[in-house]
Amino acid sequence: MRTQVAIIGAGPAGLLLSHLLHLRGISSVVLEKRSRDYVERRVRAGVLEQGTVDTLIEAGVGERMLREGLPHHGIELRYGGAGHRIPFEKLVPGRSITVYGQQEVVKDLIAARLAAGGDIRFEVEDVALHSLESEPYVTFGGERLDCDVIAGCDGFHGVSRPAIPEGVLTVFEKDYPFAWLGILAEVAPSSEELIYTRTERGFALHSMRSPTVSRFYLQVPADAQLEEWPDERIWGELKARLESVPGFTLATGDIVERGITPMRAFVAEPMQYGRLHLAGDAAHIVPPTGAKGLNLAVADVRVLTDALAAYFEDGSTEPLDGYSRACLKRVWRAQHFSWWMTTLLHTFDEDDAYARRLQLSYLDYVTSSEAAATTLAENYVGLPY
Ligand code: PHB
Repeated sequence: MRTQVAIIGAGPAGLLLSHLLHLRGISSVVLEKRSRDYVERRVRAGVLEQGTVDTLIEAGVGERMLREGLPHHGIELRYGGAGHRIPFEKLVPGRSITVYGQQEVVKDLIAARLAAGGDIRFEVEDVALHSLESEPYVTFGGERLDCDVIAGCDGFHGVSRPAIPEGVLTVFEKDYPFAWLGILAEVAPSSEELIYTRTERGFALHSMRSPTVSRFYLQVPADAQLEEWPDERIWGELKARLESVPGFTLATGDIVERGITPMRAFVAEPMQYGRLHLAGDAAHIVPPTGAKGLNLAVADVRVLTDALAAYFEDGSTEPLDGYSRACLKRVWRAQHFSWWMTTLLHTFDEDDAYARRLQLSYLDYVTSSEAAATTLAENYVGLPY
């Protein structure tokens, strides 16, 4: 079997790449270890930057997102007993975010690929990458897929990055001393906009998925276990943190999904080796506080699509050679923004009273200075491509 681009992983990065390549007349085969059902149900982030929204619309897969997604024109930072709105419409006119679950993007992309006759193989076993320097190929389940280029879109735990020989990659990483416990609940959001809350008990985030489904996160210890967090404890802690301004009551409901996400940052440089190009979480991870993970994956895929189009259309290798360099600028900006949002809003055990006062003072600056609030807003909605 032969294709132009072998894509490892049917998450947002791999599926979008396959779709964008198809629109440029470039063939691909997507190999996914999990089932279609699994990838379509996997609950992940839900904030789409303006550029991500524009990309999906331009690619012709934005129809349901435009119908069901929730456009947001601001977020609230809540701390010290008060809420402070960061108004996107004032600070970054014309740019906003759309709340639309990652698994909905995945469903839309799978539907679009299959409708166009795309080749996605689910539940493939023993995927292995070979001959990365030239004439690469991928083996899986006793089959062999020859290709010109491999795109490693299989996430942080995938097989693509470890296929790069030792000594090639420089890895930068940071583990945070806490995790996020996330839940999805059948209850109307108690707020129209996302609320990022900093309290002495830790961070909490009120997000949503639809007019009847809310999404919440709690900062918990890095070694927290779901068994330690029965429903009453989760709601009790969410209330203790989010009901920290007068007059705000958190509505509760049935919890339909829950999970604990470690908070970590990671970058592997360069994001390529020979004929293998990494995109999305396979190359970099950000803590979720800045809502950048999915958006970075989309940005990588845009760069990779243009580079592959240049290669297949006129044989020019320069854009492909420069792929990593082109992506890493945005990746590191997002690393910094995610670290900044995380340190601004979480409690750190090692912080003494002085450090906590500094954090509150910084929050006051961010919410009262137009320049500082604009820094937050322009990064949050996403820097232009
Ligand atoms: C989410 O809705 O899942 C979400 C929103 C904002 C974040 C992270 C996750 O910063």
